[in-house]
Parts: sequence; structure tokens; C-alpha cells
Amino acid sequence: MSEAKPNRRRMLELCISRSLLIAGGASVSQTRLLALWQRAEAQSLQPTNAEVLGPFFRKGAPDNKVLRAPGDPGLPLKVSGRVMNTRGQLVDGAKVDFWHADHNGLYDTRGYKYRTKLSPNEKGEYSVETVMPGHYSDRPAQHIHYLIAAPGHKTLITQAYFATDPFFEGNPEKNWNKRGIAGNKELVLPVKLFETGPHTEVTFDIILEKA
Ligand SMILES: [Fe+2]
Repeated sequence: MSEAKPNRRRMLELCISRSLLIAGGASVSQTRLLALWQRAEAQSLQPTNAEVLGPFFRKGAPDNKVLRAPGDPGLPLKVSGRVMNTRGQLVDGAKVDFWHADHNGLYDTRGYKYRTKLSPNEKGEYSVETVMPGHYSDRPAQHIHYLIAAPGHKTLITQAYFATDPFFEGNPEKNWNKRGIAGNKELVLPVKLFETGPHTEVTFDIILEKA
């Protein structure tokens, strides 16, 4: 009969008791070391889940924070968030490629409509004014593609989905993985609807892993 797999805390206690893990510098008790470790663990954020790149990525998009032109069809949408590491800290030099289909589900494959390559500000924040993407038959859930690169970090390719999308039949909690399109529930974002405009807003924070 095999021994039960120890949990993370038990593994840590074993490491300390067997002197496999020691504190650097001044002498620290095992209890204190365990508390320090647990605090560090509690501060760590889960990296954003990866998704497929898809066939419509284009290099060379301009840094443009307003992708929506006056009169464009589709519900106005503001997407904002922060790019950070798993400690919630600023990631220097990050670049965010962001692209999506228009209201009719079509990508601009010749130009850069609804495409941008952003540099987050000094707080790691980014913001884009655009329209709610349309549906298209190959991937019939509304989505925005992201490719985020930053020195010293793994490049992340992911997508953001919308909890209000009719594709999820009013119940994204239950249907988030319908047809296997959204790879993770966390990528299906709550949508705020504002009467002024009207317009919608979503927040999508990006957590990068160190390379
Ligand atoms: Fe797509």
C-alpha cells in the first residue's frame, strides 16, 4: 500500500525538520520560518491562464488606446486592467498585443482595425476603448485575444470572454466551458453595463510568470 501523498504544508514541515530548507542570514526558528513561508505563499497570485493564439494575429499593431471610431457598430466597450507578476508587482517593459473581431465577427486581416500594441503606464495599468466583439462561426463566443511579452517573463497568449455573451445562455457559471471554447472559467469576465452611452466595461488583470 503506497504512502499518502503529503500536502504542501506537510512537505514544508518535513523539509524544515530534515534541514532541507534553512533560513539565510540570522538564525530563525522553525515556527518563524514556516510563518514566513506561508505569508509568501499567500501573497502569490495565480498566473493568467493561456489560450490559443488563433489565426488572426498580426504583428506591428500601433499603440492606440482608442480603437472605436465614431459611428462604428457595436456596443461601446472599455477594457482595462493591470499587468503584474505573481507577487502583484509592476512588470517593467511589458507590451500588450490586443486584437478582436468587429461587431460582425470579422477580423481586419489587412490593416489594424481593432488591433493595438500597448505599453502599460508606470503603474502597470492599461486601458482600451473599443466595441464588444461579434461572433464568428469557428469560435462562436465573443472574445478578445491577448499576447503579452515582458523581459524576464514568459510570454503569455490568452483570451478574454464575456459573462453576458448569449453563448453562455445566461449562466456562465454552468456553461463557461460550453463546446470547450473558453479554457478556464477565470477568463469569462463579468461585464458592467452603464446607461450612459450606453456602454460596457470589463476589467482583465494579467499575471505573468517569471521566465
Ligand atoms: Fe478569435
